[in-house]
Amino acid sequence: MASMGGIQENEDEKLILSLPKEKPWAQPYDLYLFQNFWCPGIHIQAVNRFQKYFEAVKDSDVVVASFPKSGTIWIKALTFSIANHHRFPSLENHPLLTTNPHELVPFLEFSFGGNIQDQILHLSNMTEPRIFGTHTPFTSLPKSIKESNCKLVYICRDPFDNFVSAWNYFNKVKPMSLPALTMEEAFEKYCNGIMDYGPWWSHMLGYWNESIANPNKVLFLKYEDLKEDTNFHVKRIAEFLGCPFTQKEESSGVIQSIIKLCSFENMKDLEVNKSGKIGRGGIEKKDFFRKGEKGDWVNYFTPSMQEKLSAIVEEKLSGSGLSFKKCS
Ligand code: A3P
Repeated sequence: MASMGGIQENEDEKLILSLPKEKPWAQPYDLYLFQNFWCPGIHIQAVNRFQKYFEAVKDSDVVVASFPKSGTIWIKALTFSIANHHRFPSLENHPLLTTNPHELVPFLEFSFGGNIQDQILHLSNMTEPRIFGTHTPFTSLPKSIKESNCKLVYICRDPFDNFVSAWNYFNKVKPMSLPALTMEEAFEKYCNGIMDYGPWWSHMLGYWNESIANPNKVLFLKYEDLKEDTNFHVKRIAEFLGCPFTQKEESSGVIQSIIKLCSFENMKDLEVNKSGKIGRGGIEKKDFFRKGEKGDWVNYFTPSMQEKLSAIVEEKLSGSGLSFKKCS
């Protein structure tokens, strides 16, 4: 492992100062164009270290990847429940009843913000299968993840709803001292790809292309499909992870219990998700739950916004094979 401490801190600082910078979505940090994605300034050091030092990947590891505001918390809860369905067959004492999904499935890049040795030790002590989250684009994942046999489950969301979710979220979690971001300002940024971990199109396409080239490595899911037929996708995830449900488990209702446990209605009402804060930024856990629906964009978009974003979706995703129902 390379030397750390003061020298490393200086190098991180020098790196940040050399990067193009943009204003964020009403947050107290700037966005920097790091490795072709808009990385929040407060995360660059951690992302950079995560790439360098996350070496001991296990074949049984699962990485849940997403663009922010695509249903990360939902897919974390589902993946955790599916991968552990032998360990926690009964939902009575299920960890999700007492622990927030972001705590059960920690973000890898954020785990490398503090003392690296401690964090690596903490990650190596996690019970297997270890399940991690990440917002890092595929191209910037550590080699160790790409080259090992660990699996990646990616969730993406129709950009229209992704934008609405993000605009509501960033304004909700912003510090009181900062002015709210108007919908027009946010939309302009979104259309230009400027949002934490954006551009959204390259984030989606990075995982999409890899899921086609390497379908045993990356499972690409859409929030809307998951909403439409959760049962089918829960089985698909289980098969992908190599822990399919037996006929007996299916008929005894294990899949249905998992779906219910992880449902928006259930999760948002759990005491553990209603109160308290999470992460370094101290985000209220309740702010991860808003409407949990598909198609809410119709309540926000003007015809000209619709026309503009449709054209961008068409242009950016053209020829990739990735499409969203109403835009195709
Ligand atoms: P909305 O703002 O449209 O309601 P992320 O977890 O990536 O931050 O995504 C947040 C979005 O997922 C929010 O969307 C939130 O309400 C929704 N969400 C949270 N839990 C969910 C669940 N269990 N099922 C479906 N959607 C969920």
